[in-house]
Amino acid sequence: MKEVGLVARSTPTDTYIIAYEVPQVASYLYSEAGNLKVVMVVTGVEAVDEAFTRVFDSKEAEMMAKYARASGALKIVVRASPVVDLTTRRRPQTPIPPRTPVYVASKEILEEAFSICYCAFTGLYSDSPLSSWVRIGVLRSHRDVEVKVNVDAILSKHLAVLGSTGSGKSNLVAVLVDRIASLGGQAIIIDSHGEYSDMDFASKDVKLVHFEAKVNPLKVSPMVLASTLIPEAAATKQRNLLRKAIRELNSLYAKSGSERAEAEKRIAELVREANEELEVEVEDTSGRRYLKALYALIMKMRDSRDSRLSSIKRDVFDSILLKLEKSIVEYDVYSTDVVDPVDLLEPGTVVDVDVSLLPDAARDEVVSYICRQALQRAMAGELLPTLIVVEEAHLYLRSDSNSAAKQAIERIAREGRKYGVGLVIVSQRPKGIDPNVLSQINSLCVLKIVQPEDQAYVKQYSEWMTDEMLAALPTLERGEAILLGEWVRMPVAVLIDKHEGKKRGVTTSSVKKWLKGKRDREAKLKEVLEEEEMIRRAEEVF
Ligand SMILES: Nc1ncnc2c1ncn2[C@@H]1O[C@H](COP(=O)(O)OP(=O)(O)OP(=O)(O)O)[C@@H](O)[C@H]1O
Ligand SMILES: [Mg+2]
Repeated sequence: MKEVGLVARSTPTDTYIIAYEVPQVASYLYSEAGNLKVVMVVTGVEAVDEAFTRVFDSKEAEMMAKYARASGALKIVVRASPVVDLTTRRRPQTPIPPRTPVYVASKEILEEAFSICYCAFTGLYSDSPLSSWVRIGVLRSHRDVEVKVNVDAILSKHLAVLGSTGSGKSNLVAVLVDRIASLGGQAIIIDSHGEYSDMDFASKDVKLVHFEAKVNPLKVSPMVLASTLIPEAAATKQRNLLRKAIRELNSLYAKSGSERAEAEKRIAELVREANEELEVEVEDTSGRRYLKALYALIMKMRDSRDSRLSSIKRDVFDSILLKLEKSIVEYDVYSTDVVDPVDLLEPGTVVDVDVSLLPDAARDEVVSYICRQALQRAMAGELLPTLIVVEEAHLYLRSDSNSAAKQAIERIAREGRKYGVGLVIVSQRPKGIDPNVLSQINSLCVLKIVQPEDQAYVKQYSEWMTDEMLAALPTLERGEAILLGEWVRMPVAVLIDKHEGKKRGVTTSSVKKWLKGKRDREAKLKEVLEEEEMIRRAEEVF
């Protein structure tokens, strides 16, 4: 092993090393003294020139600079935290004696250290089988040493994946759900960009179910549906009228038994009336039929002789109609016969809930519905342990919001542990996430983070993050991350495996696309010119 320095001062939790070489923050060192065989993780590196720090004035500084350049008298102080003693197989209890040599930990030492840690020396997750430790990558400092994480820890105490855009968050999610499904587990991804829809898995036994999220208007409250259709804050009067119509229509849909046929006839009539008025040519889906029936009901209210309604100005109704028309034409996000995505879960399945096409309020509603359903069923003992991944979590978990989605996600963060519903929140804007949610989350994957405010936020809510590790965050490359918390036994800097089966969301070169476009256009032009030339020649011949 390569010697890198000597211990200068130490406590059981901190070792200061005078080093000859500069190790990477979050890499591992090793030291032996007597019975102690200690593996340490580097938490800080400082380079000082002691003589320089005692300089008084600029003249002296100039002289010192010449001397320093000539002698290279630099002192490197490395701070490292002992993580495991290979002799006792526990956290080290005694300080490493000063002047003990320190080495870069070898592959063999690291493998031994990680194998101890994976056996859970604190007793936490001690009943986890070995297979609950799944590989997600290799050590950043030793690419031949595997890094595994504990799936039980994610399921019971949740995970946050934080990093700038393009840092590799979704790739990690792909790796993780792939491994989990291969274990016979199941997961739902709230896919805010529709980027997992055609993902291929490493194992043939794993199944991806793509689910284009829709809102079932019969399952959400009339108030929520009205504000989804008319989100403008000032439009209270419009929303109240719409709510009235929604209630009326829902009671028609709810009719059963002998009244059912009559109700269906009435709905069909409403749809026909709306069609006559609207004259739009879009596929007649169940969701559109619902909205059209609503449209007809609002028309009726507008033209009614009801004295309470006739005092309302016609343009209030007209603007409701306009918004309904817009919803009917622009997107098909409602469905009265939509399946429940939670029903699609089974062992070895990943359900990709694509919410990318939904308007904000509808997306919120879908997320809230799924989270509530999953927790309720788990509480009733009807659901196997399930992971719920929320991509772009800042969309739902803002501090100043009290949306239904936020409440439902928060509840899983608080109570999911007891029922086997694990949460993974993924975000590029950590500071946009309510601290109450993050404080419930026990494991952390921090990728490259550049913004100081985001870094400060991560530091504030994770007890394991040292200032030095924080300082290393902007230097992480794509796919490199620091893993902290219960899912790993010690803080670890990792290079995450690349998921080969995830094709969307991949960073592509825009310039490459432009150049290809240019080449294609030129080739086409050349083809046309050649064809013209051929015709001209042919004409000359005849
Ligand atoms: N561990 C890795 N090894 C190699 N390439 C990676 C790795 N992680 C991510 N990449 C590549 O980096 C690009 C961005 O990755 P990814 O989509 O996971 O980033 P992201 O953090 O989710 O970004 P966004 O915030 O925009 O969603 C992709 O092209 C992906 O293939
Ligand atoms: Mg992403």
